[in-house]
Amino acid sequence: MAILLDSASVDDAAAAAALGFVHGITTNPALMARETTEPLAHLGRLLAAFPGGPICYQPTRTTYAQMNDEARAAAALAPERVVAKLPATLDAIKLAAALTDDGIRCALTAVYSPAQALLAHETGCVWIIPYVDRAARHADGGLTVVDSLAAILARLQSGTRILAASLKSAPQVVDAILHGAHDVTAPLEVLRSLPAHPLTESAVREFAAAWPEA
Ligand code: G3P
Repeated sequence: MAILLDSASVDDAAAAAALGFVHGITTNPALMARETTEPLAHLGRLLAAFPGGPICYQPTRTTYAQMNDEARAAAALAPERVVAKLPATLDAIKLAAALTDDGIRCALTAVYSPAQALLAHETGCVWIIPYVDRAARHADGGLTVVDSLAAILARLQSGTRILAASLKSAPQVVDAILHGAHDVTAPLEVLRSLPAHPLTESAVREFAAAWPEA
């Protein structure tokens, strides 16, 4: 299991690196647009702020040729670390196949259906990224999507992993794993909330009270 940060903020990236349990970063064009007008230069800043592990970079442009150029330019910045993240459309899946053939790792994102998982498997994508909370709000249930993706990938004995995204709370992160996601990505505040429990807090207060300041 790997836990990733879902953000394009350099400050978030540095804070996540300091947590010690965050494996990498996922970005998308909407997150990038909040931070920069130069996404490839900004990717360089994220790579520096988060010094190890994968960073999933999604092209900001949308035609095949534009996505191809931008994904290859992103991967060239750090071939061992950058994963080309592409939406699960026909054009982008064609591109994922071409990039994978050229040794660039790919992930399919904004995934809502098992048919998309079949194509992620067939094109050798390292990750398939379902949007859990969005599916809960707009489709037939977020965790139902994860269930069906997990069943398909297990049936195929696939090397493609499920990276659950659009996660809004610690319980949703846990549920995604319980329903078959291999990995999760979430905003910094959700990652920071993972250990929170009122009984842990009261135990800490009890321990501190046993050793009052001299
Ligand atoms: O990368 C963003 C993806 O996780 C979707 O999240 O919060 O826009 O549903 P959200």
